[in-house]
Amino acid sequence: SGRCVVAVDGPSGSGKSTVSRRLATALDAQYLDTGAMYRAVTWAVLQSGVEPHDSDAVAKVAGEVQLEIGTDPSAPHISVDGTAVDGPIRGPEVTGAVSAVAAVPWVRQLLVAQQRKLIAEAGRMVVEGRDIGTVVAPDADLKVYLTASADARARRRSAEDATDVAATAADLHRRDQLDSTRATDPLQQADDAVVLDTTGLGIDEVVSRLRALLDGRV
Ligand code: C5P
Repeated sequence: SGRCVVAVDGPSGSGKSTVSRRLATALDAQYLDTGAMYRAVTWAVLQSGVEPHDSDAVAKVAGEVQLEIGTDPSAPHISVDGTAVDGPIRGPEVTGAVSAVAAVPWVRQLLVAQQRKLIAEAGRMVVEGRDIGTVVAPDADLKVYLTASADARARRRSAEDATDVAATAADLHRRDQLDSTRATDPLQQADDAVVLDTTGLGIDEVVSRLRALLDGRV
C-alpha cells in the first residue's frame, strides 16, 4: 500500500491519541505522537534544572538532546538520550510546563524538522498534534480536527490520568489558552480540515468515519 499521511489535530481530551492509534492500526500505518516529543523535551528541561520560561536555556537543552521515537501504533515509545520517558512525560510536572516549552520558536523548529523526516521515512503515518495540518504536513492526504465539549474532554482526561475532574478541567482550559494564543504555530484548524465533534461518539464510530473519508481520497 502506498503513501498515506493523516493529520489529526485538536485540543487535549478530544480523543486524538486513541483515535489516531486505532486509525493507524487499521490503515497498517505508523503513528507519531508529536505531543510526546514536546513532553520529552520538557522532561529534559526540568531534568537539567532549567526554568521552562527561560527561552534561551530551553532552546539550548532542546538542541542538545537526542530523541528516539518508536512509531508502532500498538507500542509507541519515546526516549531521551537513551532513557525511556514514556511514564514521566505524562506526569503533572511535565504537563504543567509543556506549553511554555512548546511556545519557544526554536524548539518548534527543531521538532517540526524531525517530525517531517519521520513522516517522509514512514510513508504511511497517522500524525497527531496541534499544528500538523497547518505546519508539519500541509500536504497530508486527510486533515482532521477533533473537538469535544469542555465537559467531555475533562471527563476523558481525568479518567485516563485518575485525577479530579475539576482540576483536569482547569488544567485543560489553561493549556488550551496557552496553546491557541502563542505566537508560533498556535493550535489552529486548517482551512481544509474535516472537523469532527466527538462528544457523543464512541471510538469505533470516529475511526470508521475517518476511514470512510479516506476511502474517497487515497
Ligand atoms: O497532545 P499532548 O497533550 O500530549 O501535548 C502536550 C503539549 O504539547 C500541548 O499542550 C502543546 O503545548 C504541545 N504541542 C504542540 N504542538 C504539537 C503537539 C503538542 O505545541 N504538535
